[in-house]
Amino acid sequence: MVNILVLNGPNLGRLGSREPDVYGGGTLDDLRAELEGEAPPGHAIDLRQTNDEAELISWIYEAVDTGSPVILNPAAFTHYSYALRDAAALVTKAGLILIEVHLSNPFAREEFRHTSVIAPVATGTIAGFGFDSYLLALDAINRKLG
Ligand code: DQA
Repeated sequence: MVNILVLNGPNLGRLGSREPDVYGGGTLDDLRAELEGEAPPGHAIDLRQTNDEAELISWIYEAVDTGSPVILNPAAFTHYSYALRDAAALVTKAGLILIEVHLSNPFAREEFRHTSVIAPVATGTIAGFGFDSYLLALDAINRKLG
């Protein structure tokens, strides 16, 4: 069984009530159900959320140690966390897939959101499609893993 880690950064635990005009009305539990419905045979979805940078980094180490592909929404850490970037680099340097996702399109928003310190070390980035950003990332993982 391959575990796909779907890691979510700060404030994403409030999906459903947080700025629904920007992020949509679905909750993380709704997202988990959608991803589980699309997981290919032999793959399990392990979706987690934290507001804590250290915890997020420890989950990324876990992905490296267990050889798990990662779908990562770093939320606001996207724009400034060099610590998270260095951890994400460990995943891709290990030859594992790490896809950065965003519900919104940060490039269409405030200027501080136009920088991602994660993107240069990610396998790829998918943004602007709501929950479909995650589903497209899952599809990309399926295709890459063959
Ligand atoms: C986000 C975009 C970030 O700029 C923001 O800080 C978030 C969510 C997104 O999914 O659109 O918390 O990552």
